[in-house]
Amino acid sequence: MNIKTLLSVLAMPAALMAQEVPDSIDVLAYSSFDGKGGLKLAWRAGDAQPWQPLGYTFVNSDFGPWGSHKTMFAPVLEHDGSQWVLTWVAERNGYVMAEATSPDLLKWSPQTYAMSQADRTRSAQYAVAGEGVLGNVVRMPKAEVDGLIDYVAVRRELDDKYAETMAGDSERFASLGASPLKYTVKAEPKKAKPISDMLIGIFFEDINYAADGGLYAELVQNRDFEYQPSDRGGDKGWNATTAWSWPAPEKGSYEVATASPIHENNKHYLSLSAREAGYAIANHGYDGMALSKGLYDLNLKARGNASITASLVDAKDHQLASKKIAIDSKDWKDYSATFDVARAADGSKLVLTFDAPGQASIDMVSLFPQATFKGRKNGLRADLAQTLADLHPRFVRFPGGCVAHGDGIDNIYDWKGSVGPLEARKPLRNLWGYHQTRGLGYHEYFQFCEDIGAEPLPVLAAGVPCQNSGTNAHHSHDALTRFGQQCGIPMEEMGQYVQDVLDLIEYANGPADSKWGALRAQAGHPEPFGLKYIGIGNEDMITEVFEERFKMIYDAVKAAHPEVEVVGTVGPFYEGTDYERGWELAKELQVPYVDEHYYVSPGWMIYNQDYYDGYERGEGATRVYLGEYAAHLDGRPSNIETALAEALYLTSVERNADVVAMTSYAPLLAKDGHIQWRPDLIYFSNTDVRPTVDYYVQQLYGQNSGSLYIPAAATLGTDNEKAAVRVGSSIVKDEATGDIIVKLANLLPVPVDASVDLAGLKFDRKKTPVATVIAGHPDESEAAPRSVAISAPKSGKLAYEMPAYSFTVVRLRK
Ligand code: AHR
Repeated sequence: MNIKTLLSVLAMPAALMAQEVPDSIDVLAYSSFDGKGGLKLAWRAGDAQPWQPLGYTFVNSDFGPWGSHKTMFAPVLEHDGSQWVLTWVAERNGYVMAEATSPDLLKWSPQTYAMSQADRTRSAQYAVAGEGVLGNVVRMPKAEVDGLIDYVAVRRELDDKYAETMAGDSERFASLGASPLKYTVKAEPKKAKPISDMLIGIFFEDINYAADGGLYAELVQNRDFEYQPSDRGGDKGWNATTAWSWPAPEKGSYEVATASPIHENNKHYLSLSAREAGYAIANHGYDGMALSKGLYDLNLKARGNASITASLVDAKDHQLASKKIAIDSKDWKDYSATFDVARAADGSKLVLTFDAPGQASIDMVSLFPQATFKGRKNGLRADLAQTLADLHPRFVRFPGGCVAHGDGIDNIYDWKGSVGPLEARKPLRNLWGYHQTRGLGYHEYFQFCEDIGAEPLPVLAAGVPCQNSGTNAHHSHDALTRFGQQCGIPMEEMGQYVQDVLDLIEYANGPADSKWGALRAQAGHPEPFGLKYIGIGNEDMITEVFEERFKMIYDAVKAAHPEVEVVGTVGPFYEGTDYERGWELAKELQVPYVDEHYYVSPGWMIYNQDYYDGYERGEGATRVYLGEYAAHLDGRPSNIETALAEALYLTSVERNADVVAMTSYAPLLAKDGHIQWRPDLIYFSNTDVRPTVDYYVQQLYGQNSGSLYIPAAATLGTDNEKAAVRVGSSIVKDEATGDIIVKLANLLPVPVDASVDLAGLKFDRKKTPVATVIAGHPDESEAAPRSVAISAPKSGKLAYEMPAYSFTVVRLRK
């Protein structure tokens, strides 16, 4: 039984709640003084008896920015005759009141918030287990309280299961002995069903310096002098001159200027005055520039009168290459040079030195290797892009995540600000605490998708920013937004926002002579990109504000572009209010796909392999895009344990790939020294790229996906229930090649002798199968796939000993 089934069995009939029956008892609904931890309940047997806490959070406040800002003060619980109504003070200063309703104290409605001076008089102070709390007392039938107690016990049991880690395996599985367990699998080809051939994709978000300083191959940091303290919460050290330095400041002066800029979206530039030769500015790139032997293109915009030497120097200031540039224009003009670098040099910088006294204004100082991915101008770092391409992703979701819906309305990722000439793009504060040049913008994302043969899946905000937004000054006429989130783009602006979404489809798919198609053509791509999917929303709170805006966008896209399928959103978790209401809404509106997110423990994945088994499927049913997921262990490592949990879980996803159409691990990229979230699929520095074990699991799935699922009856020769859920398999046919692919996951500390009966399936029984295995100790983080010899299954039976803690993919060729 998975978590959803279990909890629905336990849910109590609403009608029984809160009746004053003879055995009614006092229940205290409360929260802590500091507002942290949400709604708790306690009961007592009689007036003089102590309160017995149920030890569970029944609902959390979702108002305010992430983490400790989400507070619930002075809750008041009441029953209005048909349902429970909970109100609380949602904000420390007492300006916001919140409300949610529930039929049974387990399922909760979306929360609503209103500006109102807090009324704390209806809650009182109590002591629960020696701790002072604020709340109120209601009467409930004892039987109902017992039901809640049972519910909490079941949640605890589940939590214990989900907390299971492989660290305890030697004890847990001591009884299995040393000899391999038998695992018999019998394929049932007659029950074969079509599945999605787009199951494995990637989710690219600019987090952890994934874009600027990462995948985007630009080497100059802050090339446009547009960094602002507000990118980093008011940090004054993060400004127009960040990443720039002045090797000989006494020889001249500079000013960050804004008069007559190159573009209104790019207001700042440097105005330099050299009193004598040798005045210079240097750019250190992103933690230094890692140069390789090869050609590099320097481009800059300048005006003034100066002779400048542009040079690349290594970490010890030894010159690697240099070129002279004569600035000779009153107006902004493009200047360029190509450097031929003869040797690799990490920690290098770009230096612009005045050869004589002079004056010049400069902006958009850019240095790219010519060897970008596929040699594209304004392109991507070749090694990183290739590592992504090697996953063989069928789609790319971009540009976020939270980056897509933004920290407040002003921070929503407006796609129009990310296309066109580089100097015309609108830089944007990155909500992960840095800056987006958006040189890697929508056009480049589309281009990358095309270059790697993946479908683009852009995600646009559903007219609401991130529910965890911390800022929202723009629309301050709605005072609620002063505290962040829960606001939407004002309705009078929604018409334009909806049009922006439609315009994106025109940019991607419209003819080259359409308004937005022409911009794409000017960027060098007259042919349409063939956009088929568009995401609306990212794990938003499913509130009225959201629903109203989502529907507007959804209806408009459906009406104007029935050929483009919408991917909706169902909150950040695998259960709960947003998940439930999000799904209801998707079904009501017949949204083709919804985007589910869950970051969970390996134990959750092990014990929820039936998560999708009960999902509605078939004609007209909304399908799932599992857009963000990963196995999280304490300390957030990427290792054999996390990777195998994902591999095992994906066997169950593949089994359900008629309803789960797409999946993508998250996050994708993380740069050393700038890691904001762990684990990630790929770590990198300026010089190296380090795929994780989890990456290799994704790669094995991506390179060995199928379009037909072959169900099988599988039995593990043990009655140890904990062992039984640790072994899984999946058989698919790749109809493009005709190959049969068998995936075998063994999460046990002992080997497992697998016998896979493939009778009835067509493949060349004489050809040696291609088999690849990842195996290692659960703690191991360096493991990589290796080939393994497997005999041809002459009789149609594949015999293979699955190593302890392993994932194996066997490809049987046509
Ligand atoms: O993947 C990192 C973040 O996790 C995404 O930005 C967001 O959608 C989720 O909360």
